[in-house]
Amino acid sequence: MSEHNETAIAELRREYVRGGLRRKDLTQEPMELFERWLKQACEAKLSDPTAMCVATVDEHGQPYQRIVLLKHFDTRSLVFYTNLGSRKAKHLAQNNQISLHFPWYQLERQVSFLGKAERLSSTEVIKYFHSRPRDSQIAAWASQQSSRISARGILEGKFLELKQKFQNGEVPLPSFWGGFKVEINSVEFWQGGANRLHDRFLYQREGGEWRIDRLAP
Ligand SMILES: Cc1cc2nc3c(=O)[nH]c(=O)nc-3n(C[C@H](O)[C@H](O)[C@H](O)COP(=O)(O)O)c2cc1C
Repeated sequence: MSEHNETAIAELRREYVRGGLRRKDLTQEPMELFERWLKQACEAKLSDPTAMCVATVDEHGQPYQRIVLLKHFDTRSLVFYTNLGSRKAKHLAQNNQISLHFPWYQLERQVSFLGKAERLSSTEVIKYFHSRPRDSQIAAWASQQSSRISARGILEGKFLELKQKFQNGEVPLPSFWGGFKVEINSVEFWQGGANRLHDRFLYQREGGEWRIDRLAP
């Protein structure tokens, strides 16, 4: 790595000027504030505003992260879909503790969730599966997500074969494809502030209520 490059990266920074997050801006329910921020992220035309970084841990406590798309949420939970044989699904079968993170840095914001992931039933998954483009449904069949493959051609061959197989009628839901509902017990909202004096508010579930604390930046 060249020294010049390192210096250039170290000098990349900016001031956060969009205004802070104050107690008066908070909602009693964290998902109400999340909904407001997500709406603003969509209105600001951020690319992939629903993309969230999902962290899971393996049996050795080694964390892994990857992006998935948020597909639904309500007052206590967030839902995403994935392959049930994938690495993340294997982690969650052993340890369902999970962290979700929305990096909306164009808005000088981030939101982090902690919670527990539960698998959705196939009845809950099927409606969403059939709302996806037909080729995405077929691709779900073609890919044993996170398994080793020797070449891209194998995947493409399988896709064409399955396209042929499912050419008439509905594509069935694969038994190895599903979703996770993350029941949240903590949410942190971060809004960048001038002079690195950022605003952070942490909501934590305590005895059926949300406790709200301001954290130092
Ligand atoms: C923008 C974006 C959206 C993605 N959305 C999903 C998704 O909704 N579900 C999914 O399983 N993988 C999604 N992926 C792929 C995952 O990041 C990841 O590669 C895959 O799920 C395998 O992860 P794992 O091996 O850790 O289980 C997305 C990737 C990107 C960059």
